[in-house]
Amino acid sequence: MAKKTVKEVDFTNKRVLMRVDFNVPLKEGKVTDDTRIREALPTIKYILEQQGTSLILMSHLGRPKGTVVPDMSLKPVAGRLKELLGKDVIMAPDCVGDEVTKLAQSMKTGDVMLLENLRFNPGEKKNDPDFAKKLASLADTYVNDAFGTAHRPEASMVGVNQYLPSCAGFLLEKEIKFLGDVVANPEKPFVAIIGGSKVSTKISVLENLLSKVDTLIIGGGMAYTFLKCMGKTIGKSLLEEDFLDTAQKLLDAARAKNVEIILPVDHYAASEFAETAVPELVSDVNIPDGKIGMDIGPKTIEAVKERILKAKTIVWNGPMGVFEFDAFAKGTLEIAKTVAESGAISVVGGGDSVAAVNKFGLSGKISHVSTGGGASLEFLEGKALPGIEALPSK
Ligand code: 3PG
Repeated sequence: MAKKTVKEVDFTNKRVLMRVDFNVPLKEGKVTDDTRIREALPTIKYILEQQGTSLILMSHLGRPKGTVVPDMSLKPVAGRLKELLGKDVIMAPDCVGDEVTKLAQSMKTGDVMLLENLRFNPGEKKNDPDFAKKLASLADTYVNDAFGTAHRPEASMVGVNQYLPSCAGFLLEKEIKFLGDVVANPEKPFVAIIGGSKVSTKISVLENLLSKVDTLIIGGGMAYTFLKCMGKTIGKSLLEEDFLDTAQKLLDAARAKNVEIILPVDHYAASEFAETAVPELVSDVNIPDGKIGMDIGPKTIEAVKERILKAKTIVWNGPMGVFEFDAFAKGTLEIAKTVAESGAISVVGGGDSVAAVNKFGLSGKISHVSTGGGASLEFLEGKALPGIEALPSK
């Protein structure tokens, strides 16, 4: 059921507490990818446009395990947010405590404050009710726009809403629409492209999507376990022996459901797993002894492109090869370009495929690039995410 959103709330003269996912990569005290901050801007700006509002933002960063780790301070994020908003952002010295309460109480209309890393406090991960109550006491109402953290039942995600009126922000609403509704009611043909290194991390996604898609394209390191279970030779390619049975069951289930499975029919391989390795074209499905499959080959790329161009809905999670190494990025790049050019509704989720789409500068051409890593994977597995469940319906 659709969640109540900021559009259905009267924020007049309210101090708003908003959970965002500003868990962004940092290097030497600078934010190196501000996507998650930019994606929160529509809700931030909307709230600040309402009459008499002030806004307290809260997030985690990294996994500091309940203690203060200076390198995981949100200060650099406050700096970037200030640049993006074009206005001052008050950086709180902590996420709760007397000083923070005083700062919150002295906020004026239009003020924005960012609390320090929630996970510096052990109460966050434990979903401690006292900690949630302290956070809630800072404001009059609560908004959750932290899709990337929706799979974590932590205090700021599922606790604060027990003490304050709550609703979802625009980003959360958009993620639910694309990863939830589009996948549940896809326009057909529906093609899923699932890659990445391990079958073990994608079993539930594959199982869930099998009952929805017309075609399932399997690439990346996980494809070799499938090829092995089909009796092909895979050389020294990645193999999860313990998941051969699972792979077989998934192939059987696909057959029973009439789902077309596309696996690599040729490869770019190498003698060693290294950035400097020279790609060798293997024109056959079988990979010779001693060689490691590192990317899909040209015949596979063509077969995948053909399916993508016929699709009306595409979900993509996981790269087709070792795209971090330029010499083995071709398969992932070609697929990314084709998804971007196709007229289909396209949803890309999961850390690596999102990184690939960004690396190739194609994110603007995808209908929806999820801000969730683990969260989007769990959503595609069909799981209920606690951070979403905790919010009231319309
Ligand atoms: C993410 O980056 O996937 C989210 O911010 C959640 O972070 P976590 O895996 O440390 O809970």
